Amino acid sequence: MNKISIVGAGMTGATTAHWLAERELADLVLVDVVEGMPQGKGLDLLEAMPIIGKDVKISGANDYTATKDSDIIIITAGLPRKPGMSRDDLLSANAAIVGTAATETLKHSPDAIYIVLTNPLDTMAYLTMKKTGLPRERVIGQAGILDSGRMRAFVALETGVSVENIDCYVLGGHGDEMVPLTRHSNIAGISLKEYLPADTLEAIVARTRKGGGEIVNLLKTGSAFYAPSAACAQMAEAILKNKHLIVPCAAYMNGEYGLKDMFFGVPVMLGRTGMEKIIEYKLDEDEKIMFDKSAAAVKETHEALKNLVKF
Ligand SMILES: NC(=O)c1ccc[n+]([C@@H]2O[C@H](COP(=O)([O-])OP(=O)(O)OC[C@H]3O[C@@H](n4cnc5c(N)ncnc54)[C@H](O)[C@@H]3O)[C@@H](O)[C@H]2O)c1
Repeated sequence: MNKISIVGAGMTGATTAHWLAERELADLVLVDVVEGMPQGKGLDLLEAMPIIGKDVKISGANDYTATKDSDIIIITAGLPRKPGMSRDDLLSANAAIVGTAATETLKHSPDAIYIVLTNPLDTMAYLTMKKTGLPRERVIGQAGILDSGRMRAFVALETGVSVENIDCYVLGGHGDEMVPLTRHSNIAGISLKEYLPADTLEAIVARTRKGGGEIVNLLKTGSAFYAPSAACAQMAEAILKNKHLIVPCAAYMNGEYGLKDMFFGVPVMLGRTGMEKIIEYKLDEDEKIMFDKSAAAVKETHEALKNLVKF
């Protein structure tokens, strides 16, 4: 059985474990600083396995030894947003937490592939790669599957078409400048630009960009967790099953799309070695402008990180 450790057993961490256990993909370890909480959630989930008929071992811990020999480490530890906060407001608190989580888990699982969820996402993925010194194939950030999933859900609500027929591609940084590519997004092969009136599509794009904030404002405490954790589970499955699945994720850019030394949301192929390949779309002029604006915002947060942390 494969092994996945999830650091941060809060809303997204525990729900990721839930989705993963349903897939019977790997034994699971939850790690958190709160005493008893990861053990309690782990045991509760373990006791659900006979009921849903899945042979998965799940446990919780407050230290990293339990994560030994993990195939995948998922980092969800850190503070979530409160109403009125941007993801970037979380930078200094979460940089300390993610930095420790990354280096400590690597000691016990030198061959692991890292999936990062903590915000500000692109910069936390960058921090994880720099702190661990891992090659870029083995550090991937989750954002694009979620943002694209939100857009797919809104298109389905608007059109009544099955979510299975709707493909959306939301790229760029995981912030308000994210880039929903409406030309490439489609319903059963028909571009959304053709399928939907311009004002309807514009409203869907605007709602997608603010999708995380919409949920933060409704919840009042904490941020979205069902969809983000479902996205993490999809990434872990694609990796462990060596699916060569193409999905939008945050990847380290080494010249692709004209970007260097930064994490950014692009279509990647996921397989057993992690991020196998970055897919490069041909962007038109408008798309390129949106990409550059989003990249500038991510770069700014990366620079703020470099003033806080030494690699
Ligand atoms: N990338 C995305 O799409 C996305 C989506 C949702 C949430 N997030 C981010 O994920 C993070 C977690 O969100 P959440 O809703 O699960 O928050 P949460 O508060 O429910 O859970 C976070 C957990 O991290 C734990 N923690 C704090 N410091 C730790 C440490 N040093 N080691 C281990 N655990 C530690 C906390 O005790 C808590 O249980 C936030 O930064 C949030 O913004 C990202």
